[in-house]
Amino acid sequence: MKKCILVSGGAGFIGSHVTVELIDAGYDVIVADNMSNCDMTCFEGVKKITGRGDIPFVKMDFCDAVATELLFTTNHIDAVIHFAGFKAVGESVSEPLQYYQNNLDSFMNVLESARHHGCDNILFSSSATVYGEPEKLPVTEESPRQPATSPYGNTKQILEDVLRDSVQAYSNVKGIALRYFNPVGAHPSALIGELPRGVPNNLVPFITQTAIGKRECLSIFGNDYPTPDGTCQRDFIDIVDLAKAHVFAVRRMLEGKMKKEYEIFNVGTGKPLSVLELITAFQEATGVKLNYKFAPRRAGDVTAIWADPSLANQELGWKAERPIKDTLAAAWAWEKHLAGK
Ligand code: UD1
Repeated sequence: MKKCILVSGGAGFIGSHVTVELIDAGYDVIVADNMSNCDMTCFEGVKKITGRGDIPFVKMDFCDAVATELLFTTNHIDAVIHFAGFKAVGESVSEPLQYYQNNLDSFMNVLESARHHGCDNILFSSSATVYGEPEKLPVTEESPRQPATSPYGNTKQILEDVLRDSVQAYSNVKGIALRYFNPVGAHPSALIGELPRGVPNNLVPFITQTAIGKRECLSIFGNDYPTPDGTCQRDFIDIVDLAKAHVFAVRRMLEGKMKKEYEIFNVGTGKPLSVLELITAFQEATGVKLNYKFAPRRAGDVTAIWADPSLANQELGWKAERPIKDTLAAAWAWEKHLAGK
């Protein structure tokens, strides 16, 4: 019998790409989302890409414990991939209570209901933000976590710990936390991608919106960092590659191949790219000249961070494959798709 995966927050940027890869790998998927930060564009795109107009969709809020319990009562769920949560760093600083309440309540309701219903496989979407400003690069899963610089980052740390402690306390429950570096790009079909509300905070949506003329000029936040070209360095991981890591991780759980009951994996390329290098790659990949200027540093940014992805490479059998230019060309195709071009 096909295994059924619940993707909470599955209508968003990462969730929609993960849904496509899960279906492609032969899983049944239930997508649940409260649509607080997205519309149906990506879910409709997922249906087109997979040719599956019948993917179950539940509009619900995981902060609602009764609704969460009902979802597990009415469906047999083998594993949960949990994305439902707020993710804007700046907003989390001005609205900490909203962030703590939403991100913590929703995951704890999922864990509680999953436990009641014998769903023992939980995958949590964590972030490289837990490493803060690392002392040594690249970061391995053993690199120390640093005190979070935002409530958003803190929710990631807290929820990793909630999962770790639940796994320890409740027999049979298994957990994997995937620590994402900088997910970018879009599906090659250009039918799903990132849909930021308002002015984008993240670099690549700002680049594509500038390129298409929605924004006048990209500000590069800081060119006086102690890096080769003075701009920050990140590990930009293609969204489809990142989505595939979830399939490997879920399979590992469902097939009983985990070495410990709680595992953590970095999901990155292992290759640093500076903000300027990324802009150059975008221009080369698309032939579009980008209007940009240097601006002061952005508060809270780390100088440089990139992954050592060896553990995921070895244990999950997963590796980032897509060249950055293909990733950026896909992000551009998605932006043009949105603009109807
Ligand atoms: C942030 C979050 C990370 C989250 C990721 C999602 C923190 C500290 N960071 O990462 O947890 O997973 O978003 O994608 O919690 N930049 C510009 N101009 C812009 C926008 C960005 O120069 O208009 C620069 C930034 O200064 C930074 C780099 O681009 O150096 C990447 O920024 P961004 O895309 O926002 O990601 P992070 O801050 O690395």
